[in-house]
Amino acid sequence: MKYALIGCGRVAPSHIKAAQLNEIEIVALCDIDYNKAVSFAKEQRLQNVNIYADYKELLEKEELDFVSIATVSGTHGEIATYCAEQGVNFLVEKPMAMSIAEADAIIAAAEKTGVVAGVCHQNRFNIAVQELKRAVDNNRFGKLSHGSIHVRWFRDEGYYKQDDWRGKWALDGGALMNQCIHGIDLLRWIFGDEVESIYGVAKNQYHPYIEAEDIGVAVISFKNGAVATIEGTVNAVDNLEETLCVFGEEGMVRLGGMSANTVDVWQFKKPEQADEDRRFIEERAPNVYGNGHTSLFLDFKNAVSENRMPYIDLYAGKRAVETILAIYKSQKTGEKVALPLENFGTTDMI
Ligand SMILES: NC(=O)c1ccc[n+]([C@@H]2O[C@H](COP(=O)([O-])OP(=O)(O)OC[C@H]3O[C@@H](n4cnc5c(N)ncnc54)[C@H](O)[C@@H]3O)[C@@H](O)[C@H]2O)c1
Repeated sequence: MKYALIGCGRVAPSHIKAAQLNEIEIVALCDIDYNKAVSFAKEQRLQNVNIYADYKELLEKEELDFVSIATVSGTHGEIATYCAEQGVNFLVEKPMAMSIAEADAIIAAAEKTGVVAGVCHQNRFNIAVQELKRAVDNNRFGKLSHGSIHVRWFRDEGYYKQDDWRGKWALDGGALMNQCIHGIDLLRWIFGDEVESIYGVAKNQYHPYIEAEDIGVAVISFKNGAVATIEGTVNAVDNLEETLCVFGEEGMVRLGGMSANTVDVWQFKKPEQADEDRRFIEERAPNVYGNGHTSLFLDFKNAVSENRMPYIDLYAGKRAVETILAIYKSQKTGEKVALPLENFGTTDMI
């Protein structure tokens, strides 16, 4: 299977490793900064890869089974829509888009050409998360009461100053859109996706050199009656946790670690024998991105071969973005926001 990576920055090594571990042939790299792509190829010891500075030229010249898009967040909409229009299967990094209109444009183009398209919410593949999802699907919690996602990480001036897109409304967003989005994706997925309303506050406490928030909190009401809280911040003095809690009539689970990859609490009124092992799940990861890209690429490779939807599709990617945009809109209006959200984007916060 022939594959190319668009965007050779910080997250790019996770894509290359995932491709290699799944025996996907890396035929080309693309970065608007050509020399960066050349150095990246050397660093990764990639031989016989063609290098491009223009993703349109890449798509024109290479015969590809799929590409992954790991560019600056504000460029995902344009590049993903173009891939879809050209009939090229693609995996796009989170957030899939910066506005509802951009997300809808990607989806419309993908539906028209029938490409296989997915979004990198790789934490869904965490072993602990998979166990939790199975417990929810098997109705082990009974009626869901409430839950929470806390992403409490650390990002300082050095982090934001390394690239000028970071923290800008048009290109990135803040702690919710960049760092907390995986947790928000998990929360919404675990609680059944259907959201009634969101009330949120997003502030900038310690990072005056960025436009967007460094702390966001929200209350989310699901259509099934459950409620949940969201806290996403880069204001901790060190990376502390990504913790997901689920409380139901029949059980409670808390996943923790740096990216919801360990089980802290696993307790049900009607225990199963396998719960003894589930209680001790602790998946080691090299960084806060976790190990999920490898499973994500495997699923995507199979989706392309079988011409089916991937495990994490564009609609899932849009739901995560929609949730965050609703928090932003609530901050802007001071009011609770009903979903589905129409016509809002990060630049409406400027
Ligand atoms: N899934 C995850 O856990 C995870 C982790 C980190 C980053 N990300 C996401 O991945 C994306 C990239 O993040 P990063 O930290 O690697 O950023 P980065 O700035 O380190 O890298 C982005 C690269 O894209 C290139 N680029 C920009 N516009 C381009 C274009 N039009 N065509 C080709 N190349 C272009 C830049 O030159 C840069 O090399 C972001 O959207 C980010 O949110 C996801």
